[in-house]
Amino acid sequence: MASLHRVATCLILVLAPVAVFGQSSLYSDIEPATTSVPVASVAGAPLQEAETIQLTDAVVERLATDEATSEYAEYFTFENSDVVSGTDARRAASASCKSFPGDSAWPKAIVWDILNVLLGEALTPTKPIASPCYDTQWGKRSTTECTDIINNFTNPLFHHADSTSNMWPIFQGRTCMPNNDTTGRTCTVGGYPEFAIKVTNVAQVQLVINFVRSTNIRLVIKNTGHCYLGKSTGAGSLSLWMHNLNKIDFLPDYKGPGYSGLALKLAAGVTVREVYEAANRNGVTVLGAVSWSVGYAGGMIIGGGQNPLAGIYGMAADHVVAFQVVTADGRFVTASEVSHPDLFWALRGGGGGTFAVVTSVTVRAHPKLNFVTSKWVLDASNNNFDAFLAGTKKFYDVFLGWADAGIYSFFVMGNAPTPFLSMLFLFVANHTEESYTKVVKPFFDYLDANNMTLTSPHTSLAHNSFYSAYQATWGANSFPIGLENSLPANRIIPRRNFQENNNETFALIKDHVLSGKHLLGYHKAPKKYANTNNAVNPAWRECGMFMVTSSNKALDHSTPEGLAVAKKDLQENILQPWRDITPVSEGGGMYSNEASVMESDWQESFYGGYYPKLIEIRKKWDPKDVFYATTAVGSERWVVQDGEQGVQTQNGRLCRV
Ligand SMILES: Cc1cc2nc3c(=O)[nH]c(=O)nc-3n(C[C@H](O)[C@H](O)[C@H](O)COP(=O)(O)OP(=O)(O)OC[C@H]3O[C@@H](n4cnc5c(N)ncnc54)[C@H](O)[C@@H]3O)c2cc1C
Ligand SMILES: *[C@@H]1O[C@H](CO)[C@@H](O)[C@H](O)[C@H]1NC(C)=O
Ligand SMILES: *[C@@H]1O[C@H](CO)[C@@H](O)[C@H](O)[C@H]1NC(C)=O
Ligand SMILES: *[C@@H]1O[C@H](CO)[C@@H](O)[C@H](O)[C@H]1NC(C)=O
Ligand SMILES: *[C@@H]1O[C@H](CO)[C@@H](O)[C@H](O)[C@H]1NC(C)=O
Ligand SMILES: *[C@@H]1O[C@H](CO)[C@@H](O)[C@H](O)[C@H]1NC(C)=O
Repeated sequence: MASLHRVATCLILVLAPVAVFGQSSLYSDIEPATTSVPVASVAGAPLQEAETIQLTDAVVERLATDEATSEYAEYFTFENSDVVSGTDARRAASASCKSFPGDSAWPKAIVWDILNVLLGEALTPTKPIASPCYDTQWGKRSTTECTDIINNFTNPLFHHADSTSNMWPIFQGRTCMPNNDTTGRTCTVGGYPEFAIKVTNVAQVQLVINFVRSTNIRLVIKNTGHCYLGKSTGAGSLSLWMHNLNKIDFLPDYKGPGYSGLALKLAAGVTVREVYEAANRNGVTVLGAVSWSVGYAGGMIIGGGQNPLAGIYGMAADHVVAFQVVTADGRFVTASEVSHPDLFWALRGGGGGTFAVVTSVTVRAHPKLNFVTSKWVLDASNNNFDAFLAGTKKFYDVFLGWADAGIYSFFVMGNAPTPFLSMLFLFVANHTEESYTKVVKPFFDYLDANNMTLTSPHTSLAHNSFYSAYQATWGANSFPIGLENSLPANRIIPRRNFQENNNETFALIKDHVLSGKHLLGYHKAPKKYANTNNAVNPAWRECGMFMVTSSNKALDHSTPEGLAVAKKDLQENILQPWRDITPVSEGGGMYSNEASVMESDWQESFYGGYYPKLIEIRKKWDPKDVFYATTAVGSERWVVQDGEQGVQTQNGRLCRV
């Protein structure tokens, strides 16, 4: 049987060396590697349909005994299973690099064919999202399609719908950029994965984890592709594309480990917008993120989840009651306070793509609340410069009090055309206009009393639900992505800076802004609400302000040399002064999810004092480094050999350091 397959595959290879799939009729005697388990209640909630389709010992046993698959069974067996003991797995553990396309160890075409059939034909060869702009192996250039791609490239939904696209092309290596004029340019796979798996059930995740572990192939997980550091992409990898797992269960009478009450169970591919909509339909409030296009159960919540309800409820990860996950040994397990509590602890803040693949998350929901949203602009066009500065300083003097009252803000400061502070939104949770006004009135009275004039007046709006307030603020923002003109970075600034070091901190803010550096500010005081014994960066618990900045957009970011200069400037001139006044030892840090990929002290600043504990948990749950993501816990053991790209990209082979 097996030899027949091999012959058939060779024929296909001769005809079409790239696409070896779509020939499932050759394998009609092989069934997908799945079994249906009953819809049991696990951690207080019914398994979702996708979670009832599993890979079990019995299925692996079947692969090992069926004539058509027995020869390949070792690729798919669980870690520590006595069904089949693989030799590849032993080889894999000692190799110094992950296996790469073209290597002699890279699986033969027939193995990919079998994998595809066992996955129910979910294996998808990569076709770079912008390939229609070029004449390539994937087809001829289409000017119409290319125009559509150029027009849609900043739209997150366009990238959600693609199996491998990530939203920050610099980290892919920019090997296939959408350009109408492609003279002198090419389109190659580059840092994109080799194949994606369009995941629609848990069995596929289990099978792929067993496969990459036994073949020593790099694994990546793509949910939305939002990661600012390129974690959801990687050359020569297999990518689990989680986007199509989109079930949402509202659980009004949830009773689970450590919590009873309103809850939602959300599959891995559900987005923040979809969660907010579902909460609204059911008359409840749920913590998510600021940006609606971010995925809910993946990188966001595993990384902590900074969100506009911080002032009353803390971080999004604080509200997780349970995760369903597939671990590096291929097993489908629950992580909760009572089931693998160490894994549960790490998955709430310890970072995506590191400890397990989440297939769903169950989170607390909260009652409907009142909200107020407001905005105003203070600048130096209606005020002299000193008055503008004094008004701005006053804002920094009062904002901790506002944060303590539950107010979350989002503002921009800049120096062009004139120095300004633009309060894009104040997002005020659990307040009426009356109670809100009481909190902020002293500030506006001070401006009046000192003849400081707002350029855009203070206006506010009351809402009777989170969703209404959200739609009036970030919900209407397009959050453009796909850009390649800057490198992101941020800093979590402790409250202490605005108490003990207020003058020094304000002096830095002033220098930063007046010298033309980028500053988005959020002020907030993430409340210690519940479940806060988790891996969320401890810096968040001290936070007074979250500052998002970037490399200097005026610098050239188009070449490796340019990127290297921009990166150096970001690290040394833009970030260093902030590190100096907000050291980790005094509560400062960095949000790993919107960070600079080249952060020198990332272990400390992304994970704080939890890093050693996270390393231990990772060692226990993934001793063979099945998971890797840049700047993830344990990633210092590996490096992506991308040549000289100016910043760390994912366009290269993953090797041990
Ligand atoms: C425009 C924009 C706005 C943002 N706003 C916010 C915000 O308001 N609040 C906030 O907290 N963050 C925000 N972020 C950061 C965001 O949370 C991170 O980029 C996050 O990693 C995105 O997760 P994802 O799953 O959507 O993206 P992906 O890029 O698909 O994945 C990111 C990481 O998570 C891992 N991952 C994905 N799915 C899973 C899974 N099922 N199991 C295990 N690991 C998984 C991946 O391996 C990867 O390492 C923003 C980002 C952008 C670009
Ligand atoms: C992209 O943009 C074009 C306009 O050029 C539009 O017609 C098209 O529907 C958009 N969407 C996709 C998925 O291409
Ligand atoms: C793209 O190129 C085509 C010719 O290849 C041209 O007709 C078209 O106008 C160009 N579009 C843009 C947006 O430059
Ligand atoms: C909302 O405010 C009321 C008082 O107005 C308070 O009793 C309640 O605890 C607050 N809720 C939250 C979640 O902070
Ligand atoms: C207030 O400021 C305006 C504009 O800067 C100025 O014209 C006016 O004289 C000031 N009034 C007082 C009372 O300082
Ligand atoms: C901060 O600056 C103000 C005004 O510039 C000054 O009055 C105050 O003494 C300073 N505080 C400290 C602690 O230096």
